[in-house]
Amino acid sequence: MHESLRIDGARLLERLRSLGELGALPGGGVCRLAFSEEDAWGRERVIGWMKALGLEVSMDAMGNVFGLRPGREPGPPVMTGSHIDTVRTGGLYDGTLGVLAGLEVVETLNEAGMTTQRPLCVAFFSNEEGSRFAPDMMGSLVYVGGMALEEALATKGIDGERVADCMQAVGACGEQAVGRPDVHAFVELHIEQGPVLEESGITIGAVERVQGISWTELTFTGVSNHAGTTPMRMRRDAGHAAMATGAFVRELVTRIGGDQVGTVGALALSPNLVNVVPNCATLTVDLRNTDNDQLTRAERELGEFIDALAEREGIQVESRQLARFDPVPFDPAMVDRVESCASALGHSVMRMPSGAGHDAQMLARVCPTSMIFVPSVNGISHNIEEFTESADLEAGANVLLQVMLDLSR
Ligand code: GLV
Ligand code: MN
Ligand code: MN
Ligand code: MN
Repeated sequence: MHESLRIDGARLLERLRSLGELGALPGGGVCRLAFSEEDAWGRERVIGWMKALGLEVSMDAMGNVFGLRPGREPGPPVMTGSHIDTVRTGGLYDGTLGVLAGLEVVETLNEAGMTTQRPLCVAFFSNEEGSRFAPDMMGSLVYVGGMALEEALATKGIDGERVADCMQAVGACGEQAVGRPDVHAFVELHIEQGPVLEESGITIGAVERVQGISWTELTFTGVSNHAGTTPMRMRRDAGHAAMATGAFVRELVTRIGGDQVGTVGALALSPNLVNVVPNCATLTVDLRNTDNDQLTRAERELGEFIDALAEREGIQVESRQLARFDPVPFDPAMVDRVESCASALGHSVMRMPSGAGHDAQMLARVCPTSMIFVPSVNGISHNIEEFTESADLEAGANVLLQVMLDLSR
C-alpha cells in the first residue's frame, strides 16, 4: 500500500506552463490545432519528457503516442492519458492536464523506486478536439477500431488540408498498427470545463458517463442580389436561412429542456458584404444530450425545420454529419474506484456526467474506463481564460496516482 505517496505539484505546474509556451497566444491561452506546426512542437516536447522518464515510446499510424512503463509482469497496461491538441482559442489545461499528470505519476513512481505489477502507459491521442478535422476524438476512435484509418487519413479540414498530408508534414505517422488495443483499464484526468464542481464546492468529479454528441454542417445556397433593389418577396437569401436556423436551435433546445444543449459555433456568409444578399451560408450545429432519445429527437426536428425552411425560402440545403456519438456510460466499478480513492485522500467528491467529449469515451469500448474531473474556475473552457487552481490540479493528479496504483495491482 502506498497511500502516502504524493505527486510533485510544482513539477506538474512547470510542465503545464512549459507546454503552454508552444502555440502561446498573445493574450494568454494557446492554439495548437491538430497536426499544425504548433501541435508538432507540443508532440515533440511531450515525447522528449516521456523518453527522459525512461518510458518506451511508440507511435501508431494515427499519430497516437504511447509511453510504456514496464511492470513486474507483462500483460495489458493500466493506461492514462488525454490529448495535447487544442481549439483555436484554447486554455492551458484542456487535455494537457491528463497527459502531464500521467507523466507526473510516472516520475513519482520513478523517484520512489517503485515498480508496479502491471505495466503503466501514458498516452496522448491525436486530434481530440476535432475543430480542424471532424470528428472529434479521431485519434482514440481510430485506436479502438471505431473508424477506419484510411477514412481518418482522407478527412479534409476546415482549411481544405488532408489529415494524411498534415500528419506527414509534422512527422506524426507512426509504425504501430491501429484497431487492436489491449488495455487492462483506462482512467483520464481532465478539467471539468463546466461550472458544476465549483458551484458545489467539490474538488473531485467521478465521471459516470459522457453525453451524446451530434455535429452537423449545413450549407444553404440561394441567389445573390442587390440589397436595395430586391423586394423581400423575391429574395432567396441563404444568410437569412442560416440565421433562422441559429434562432431555431436555441428555441429547440429550450423546448426539449433537461440536459439538451445546442450551439451554432461556426457561420460563414458569402460574399459577406453589407449590400449583397448572401448566396451561400455555411453553419455548424452542435447538439448534445445524455439521453440519446432526446438527442435523436433534436436531430429529427432540426432536419424537419431546415427542409421546410429551404422549401419556403426557395433555396437549397445540404446537410453533412461531422460527428455522431451516442452517450457513453463508464464502468461502475471504475467510477467507484475514483470515488473511493478521492475520499481516501480526504477530498470531497461527487458523481457526475461529462458535458464534453473525451478520449476516455472511446477507450470505454475496449476496457473498463472512467474519468477524474477537477473544477474549472467560472466553468470556463475552450477559452484562453480557462483556469484551474493549483491545489485542484494537484488533487486530481494525486487521485490519478492512487487509482493507477490500485488498478496496477
Ligand atoms: C471537445 O473538446 C468537445 O467536447 O467538443
Ligand atoms: Mn479535452
Ligand atoms: Mn476541448
Ligand atoms: Mn474534448
